[in-house]
Amino acid sequence: AYPKYRFFRQQGLQPIRQLPTALIIGVKKGGTRALLEFIRIHPDVRAAGCEVHFFDKHYSKGFEWYRHHMPLTLDGQITVEKTPSYFITRDAPQRVKLMNPSIKLLVIVRDPVTRAISDYTQAISKKPEMQSFERLVFFNGSQIINTSWGPIKLGIYARFLKRWLVYFPLKQLLFVSGERLIVDPAIELKRVQNFLGIKCVVTEKHFYFNSTKGFPCLFKSERRSTPHCLGKTKGRNHPHIDPAVLQRLRDFYRPFNDQFYHMTGINFGWP
Ligand code: A3P
Repeated sequence: AYPKYRFFRQQGLQPIRQLPTALIIGVKKGGTRALLEFIRIHPDVRAAGCEVHFFDKHYSKGFEWYRHHMPLTLDGQITVEKTPSYFITRDAPQRVKLMNPSIKLLVIVRDPVTRAISDYTQAISKKPEMQSFERLVFFNGSQIINTSWGPIKLGIYARFLKRWLVYFPLKQLLFVSGERLIVDPAIELKRVQNFLGIKCVVTEKHFYFNSTKGFPCLFKSERRSTPHCLGKTKGRNHPHIDPAVLQRLRDFYRPFNDQFYHMTGINFGWP
């Protein structure tokens, strides 16, 4: 057990590992790390540190395996896990429902065009010989958008959401705006805390805006008591993309975005 739990042990309180009662299921590059780091400031929330990938890669290992990857919690604390690939994993909704039909699902979404560029920026940082974004967006040098390319496919949120709605009512999902989490983290965190049924403890007092990084950062967190921002891999500079390609992509996503707004009842205002 962690030393900090020794005190509770002495008081007769036994910390235990529990399966999550809330999941951040996506979307990749939507701001999932920021959302998790912000919500875990809350004393009633404990989170698995890294992405466990249970419902996509490790499902055959069973729920006990998953539970062992969860942090220790005390009575009244909830366990949260985030793995962004759950959102697009075909079997995930059914598997999650089997584990806990009343689980709370958080989805942080972002303009699919900037999300695609963010995804590409991450990919090229690992594989610098990659072709340009502008080339990869189109099918074999044509003007047809390559919807089988991951960074594009993933932004068709309505398609993936449909699969979750087969298993869960809309009220069990909370959609967080990735854009608003940057501009006004406290407002989004208030919605999240209400949804999780916990007191609104994480407020504007926890954040400061770091103008060099261009993102909100934390005065302190569960792990660090000094002011800090998320790591270097969060909030990268994006490459310049041909504006005509951006326009083409915006036109491509518009009907899918409208469908997503309709399904969620929220207009995210993406251009
Ligand atoms: P970029 O690096 O492309 O700017 P994820 O954690 O899901 O991989 O999402 C990464 C994205 O989170 C970043 O994409 C960034 O835009 C966004 N983000 C939101 N809040 C942030 C914060 N406070 N600090 C850094 N990045 C943040």
